[in-house]
Amino acid sequence: MTQRFTPIAITAAALLIAANSPSFAAAAPEGLPLWAWGVTTAPTTMGPGEVLPHGAPGSATAPIGNVDNKEKISIQGAKGPFTRYEIGNRFGPADWFPQDHPVMPEIVHHGRQSKDEAKTPPVWACSLCHMPNGKGRPENANITGLPYDYFVRQMLDFKEGRRKTSDNRKTNTALMIVFAQQMTREEIEEAARYFTAIPSTPWIKVIESDTAPKTNARGGVFHTITGEGAGTEPLGNRIVETPISSHDFEIRHPRSGFLAYVPKGSVKKGEALVTTGGGKTTACTVCHGVDLRGLGPIPPLAGRSPSYAGRALYDMKVGNRTGEWSPLMAPVLANLNNDDILAISAYLASLEP
Ligand code: HEC
Ligand code: HEC
Repeated sequence: MTQRFTPIAITAAALLIAANSPSFAAAAPEGLPLWAWGVTTAPTTMGPGEVLPHGAPGSATAPIGNVDNKEKISIQGAKGPFTRYEIGNRFGPADWFPQDHPVMPEIVHHGRQSKDEAKTPPVWACSLCHMPNGKGRPENANITGLPYDYFVRQMLDFKEGRRKTSDNRKTNTALMIVFAQQMTREEIEEAARYFTAIPSTPWIKVIESDTAPKTNARGGVFHTITGEGAGTEPLGNRIVETPISSHDFEIRHPRSGFLAYVPKGSVKKGEALVTTGGGKTTACTVCHGVDLRGLGPIPPLAGRSPSYAGRALYDMKVGNRTGEWSPLMAPVLANLNNDDILAISAYLASLEP
């Protein structure tokens, strides 16, 4: 009773299965949701981010270029003025409003320089990317108000290869991994104690719209074009998260937040999925808390960057987060497509943190 399938028979069988299976289209892997990565082109290679050799040109730890160290920049009512070099100092960036946050531990404030950078990568100050107040930006993460256990677990996941990014052009996540690898247990715990003690406060304003400002994508962030070329364009099926002011963004203004343009109707669609599961998934509130502000060691979701949430959901869906607790999210994500991820990210960002 040997039965041989010719290629034609296989194709016919596949078509038959496709025709009868409503989940066929959803099962096909979808590409990277570009809006969540702050890019406009698909990566040529997908998969876990590979870290270029330390210090190599183009690697995340390539030596810093020339910096303008002359112009003094001020924010009214803040400390300073600071030069651009001081603002972007990898081992002690400008702290405009020290009164806004507790005293920073050494690793958060200054990072840890390496005696021999050629051999051992340094750890940059956490405050450089996540800012002294921990609110972060769309291309990294808001790390305020996370549960202590969750924070430490993520650092160990980065350190031990269980947390990667799905686009290997994302060098800042590659850096995050390098820093976690270099950090001691004490440094991880100090940073976790510091950031988890800071309560989350609003940082993103969600705007439902058919249009969005025209933007340029730079460094994983959409910057609103001002002056020549400024205008609006159809939003389509994306979220455009953009600094309220790109000038403020560049000077790392820690009180100047973000706008997120989301498609009309996406917040309501996201709300249905998040609060009831919409027949496709488990209600997120079951684990992340009725107010979505976290529950025990499970992280909060409300009022955070929609770009970050979109990346996190996609990374988890395609298996680039494989921590001890990640399997709890696998069945939740199994039937969600990129449109669902967009709607969920829009709704979560619209909530009060
Ligand atoms: C070069 C910029 C940069 C620096 C400096 C940096 N991070 Fe990050 N961090 C990132 C990026 C990028 C991500 C992940 C974003 C992604 O892949 O979506 C991240 C994610 C995290 C997360 C995960 C948040 C979550 O909700 O799961 C934690 C925790 C974190 N960083 C802690 C730290 C600590 C502690 C330091 C200081 C030692 C630090 N980071 C320094 C860029 C940075
Ligand atoms: C069965 C419990 C459970 C349910 C239901 C659940 N989650 Fe989670 N979620 C978790 C756990 C546990 C983690 C931490 C995963 C890890 O450590 O890798 C997590 C992590 C996340 C993260 C990453 C947060 C960060 O800071 O990186 C996002 C985003 C998220 N969940 C969204 C959702 C959404 C949206 C839903 C509903 C559609 C949902 N979750 C339903 C348990 C759950």
